[in-house]
Amino acid sequence: MTGTVAVTGVTGELGSRIAARLAEADVPQLLVGRDPGRIPLLPGAEARGPAAYDERDAMRAALEGASTLVLVSGRPLGRRLEEHATAVEAGIEAGVRRVLYVSLLGASVTATYRNARDHWLTELFLADRGIRYTVFRPAFYAPTPAALADDRLRVRGPGGTGRTAFVAHDDIADVIAAVAAADADTRHDGAVLDVTGPESLTLEEAVSQIAAATGRPYGYEPETLEEAFARRLRDGVRGVQIESWLSWYQAIARGDLDTVTDVVPRITGKPATPVRDIGWWPEPNVAR
Ligand SMILES: NC(=O)c1ccc[n+]([C@@H]2O[C@H](COP(=O)([O-])OP(=O)(O)OC[C@H]3O[C@@H](n4cnc5c(N)ncnc54)[C@H](OP(=O)(O)O)[C@@H]3O)[C@@H](O)[C@H]2O)c1
Repeated sequence: MTGTVAVTGVTGELGSRIAARLAEADVPQLLVGRDPGRIPLLPGAEARGPAAYDERDAMRAALEGASTLVLVSGRPLGRRLEEHATAVEAGIEAGVRRVLYVSLLGASVTATYRNARDHWLTELFLADRGIRYTVFRPAFYAPTPAALADDRLRVRGPGGTGRTAFVAHDDIADVIAAVAAADADTRHDGAVLDVTGPESLTLEEAVSQIAAATGRPYGYEPETLEEAFARRLRDGVRGVQIESWLSWYQAIARGDLDTVTDVVPRITGKPATPVRDIGWWPEPNVAR
């Protein structure tokens, strides 16, 4: 029998998809959010919260009764370790025995991408807690280039001609839900699973797939680091936000994330989704 799975981030793109799959599989769930009014209504699922990752008491109460915690990472730069550590500790106090953490491909102390360093710190913290855990490291999300486009549908940045295997939220959710539902299966305990799309693409190739899929004239224009920095500064972006944005492109340019794995087909039994088949595209300027 599958124990109760608590899922966080259910008001977001990834967590909502994981919760929907677990509901389809009749897995009992606790859906944890900061705003209970926005938590999806699903069969077999109980809404819990309000609880933010850094609110230890609220998280402990929200996670009471769960044996597995699917921790969808939050977004605050430089505070992920602190927030995620509090959520994990609260879960352990509430009786959670297994944590599935959504990290990022290439997570490392020396990662080019600023956010990947944050995720690596959480991974280290998790590995030392004495509980069962699995780390999922998704590649960059396939819809992100569309969200980075400007009003004229140009994606500009220092991504050069490096490659990465952009991945669909649906594929990541399929993988995580499959592992979450198989409580008794210990094969993925302690594992780090790199979850990628089916092919490694340059930004130009990814953007042209988005243009073909949407029928809209998206295009990629490479910038130097200096040009990109100056433009972002003019746009009013500051400090660590500029570093995060520049380093996203630079991680691609340097080939840090040029990896294609078999995790999606191996765990879900289906091929990973190519960028052109993602099926949903954010509006331009959403991630700028
Ligand atoms: N692989 C990639 O390319 C990539 C790209 C972007 C982000 N990410 C990471 O992947 C995560 C999930 O992606 P997504 O597309 O699902 O993001 P999303 O749509 O922004 O959803 C994030 C979810 O996390 C919740 N959350 C954020 N901070 C929280 C906190 N401190 N306490 C409790 N809940 C919190 C949000 O709740 P609210 O609705 O209350 O805000 C939301 O439900 C992101 O948060 C980020 O860490 C990865």
